[in-house]
Amino acid sequence: MVEQEKTWDFDQWADTYDGWVSADDPIYFRYDTVLARVLSLSGAARGKRILDIGTGTGNLAAHLLDLGAEVVGLDPSQKMLEKAAVKLEGRHGIELKRVEEPFLEIPYGDGSFDAVVSTYAFHHVHPGKKPACIREMMRVLKPGGTWVVGDLIFQSEDDEKMMVDAHDWMEDEYFARIDELLPVLRDMGMMLKSEQYTMITWVVWTIKPPAA
Ligand SMILES: C[S@@+](CC[C@H](N)C(=O)[O-])C[C@H]1O[C@@H](n2cnc3c(N)ncnc32)[C@H](O)[C@@H]1O
Repeated sequence: MVEQEKTWDFDQWADTYDGWVSADDPIYFRYDTVLARVLSLSGAARGKRILDIGTGTGNLAAHLLDLGAEVVGLDPSQKMLEKAAVKLEGRHGIELKRVEEPFLEIPYGDGSFDAVVSTYAFHHVHPGKKPACIREMMRVLKPGGTWVVGDLIFQSEDDEKMMVDAHDWMEDEYFARIDELLPVLRDMGMMLKSEQYTMITWVVWTIKPPAA
């Protein structure tokens, strides 16, 4: 039987999303800390161009703009983007774009960005698509640029089994796994650095090798 891909209604969630992240929800516990860490690793500064994938209501994009970066925010949800547009109205250097699969088909040329960042969105991508998404994100990153993701992630297959046995709702998501990310990056000549913030929240990052 062909597995039906999970879908979520983000348009419907847009109005209440910012309330969720400020509440003590297990998914968004330490949200601000994770965003701050992604921000600091991104190298955001004046003159830097940064891609934020799954930008949602634009919380991370707002911080990137505060540091003077130019930001492109992609998201498949029109309603989420409308919330971001209201939040970021009048800000210089922001471009918001609706894209059906923003990790998989990035509508920019090779080496367009100094950093590619994402928070709490990669777990909506089917595991079978994740390697292609990583290659696509690396394609649009400049040599020497930073790739950084803060998200719900399992460490290994054993970790995943243990967590899902204990917390049924985790089965409804597509958490990445560190042991699956490592070989994809290794094949592209990159290492993976990681920091754990909660039992399921990690920030992972790497630097694209400078051009030979
Ligand atoms: C949980 S919100 C995170 C929003 C924001 N990055 C943040 O940290 O607050 C997830 C976002 O990912 C978007 N999303 C859903 N499926 C996606 C996909 N396949 N690729 C990229 N973004 C996706 C949703 O529309 C939503 O805006």
